[in-house]
Amino acid sequence: MEKLLSDLVECGKTVCLKKIKDASNSELWGIYLSAQAHLFFDAEARWIEETAWWSQTKKVLEIGSGNGVYLSKLAERFPEKLFQGIEKLPPLVKQSNEDFGSSRLSFYEGDAEVFHKYWVGSADTILFRFTLQHLTDSIRALKNAWHYLVPGGYLLIIDSCDIARRSSHPISAIEDALQLVAERQREKGWGNRRVTLDLLKTLTMGKTFLDHPYELIFSNLDQEGKVLCSTIHFTERRNPKLGFGLNLLFLNLLHRTYQIPIDLDKAYDQLKDHLKDEKARTSPGIHFLILKKATLNTSMSKSLENHL
Ligand SMILES: C[S@@+](CC[C@H](N)C(=O)[O-])C[C@H]1O[C@@H](n2cnc3c(N)ncnc32)[C@H](O)[C@@H]1O
Repeated sequence: MEKLLSDLVECGKTVCLKKIKDASNSELWGIYLSAQAHLFFDAEARWIEETAWWSQTKKVLEIGSGNGVYLSKLAERFPEKLFQGIEKLPPLVKQSNEDFGSSRLSFYEGDAEVFHKYWVGSADTILFRFTLQHLTDSIRALKNAWHYLVPGGYLLIIDSCDIARRSSHPISAIEDALQLVAERQREKGWGNRRVTLDLLKTLTMGKTFLDHPYELIFSNLDQEGKVLCSTIHFTERRNPKLGFGLNLLFLNLLHRTYQIPIDLDKAYDQLKDHLKDEKARTSPGIHFLILKKATLNTSMSKSLENHL
């Protein structure tokens, strides 16, 4: 995968753009998810393992586990824990089990927005990584997750937050595409790339989700998307060639998913300039949130029983 993306830089513009345009959706998603896991995993895992609640976690459930690469990396790094993934797309579930399934790691077909009794009380920690932004009803998914957690369990949310992106060399082809995506999402009600900021605002205002209380434990951003702390160190120059290919894939995926026009040619040139400049730095807009399942009072419990 790393070689595949590095080759995109080496093969010249015409061939590079043709390769991306000719790739199928599943090829693009597969490479993109693997590269994204690869690029960010170490920084994220270093941060996670330093948090107090992680050491108490035995069972982790990821909702929207994609091709399973990220969860498999967690399973490898934390051999004392059990990991399960729920994913909506059956081919990805099958592939994840074939590639990574073990006695400590398994993947299941399921929909984040549909409640399933089987998962009730099954996890100490639930992970939503780049998944909430794709849902039609993210609140429904958070309510379901509340039931799937043990009392006092934790929700770890990692998701895109475009207004928190920072770059020494802003890449207008990407910034323009993100604007169009936001407009398209508002028009069509498909997904929301600022879902975690909305969630943060709701929690900060002390609101709960229909008697499914969560306590806010940590957020690296404030309600306006301003970075509060650099707990997760992404600002160093990571693998630049991988970043180059990943950004081109990302733009093409935005184009295919949201049917927005993109200027791949311009993006290629801008990303190439970024790549050539040793001093260039980009901090991706990523929101990290930790929520804790709060306990219910008796009247809340009664209303929840009715809800189920
Ligand atoms: C961007 S991918 C993230 C994959 C993985 N979490 C990672 O970090 O690499 C989002 C995944 O969520 C899945 N997904 C979307 N809607 C879902 C739903 N309602 N229930 C379960 N999974 C869903 C998609 O099929 C996709 O595999």
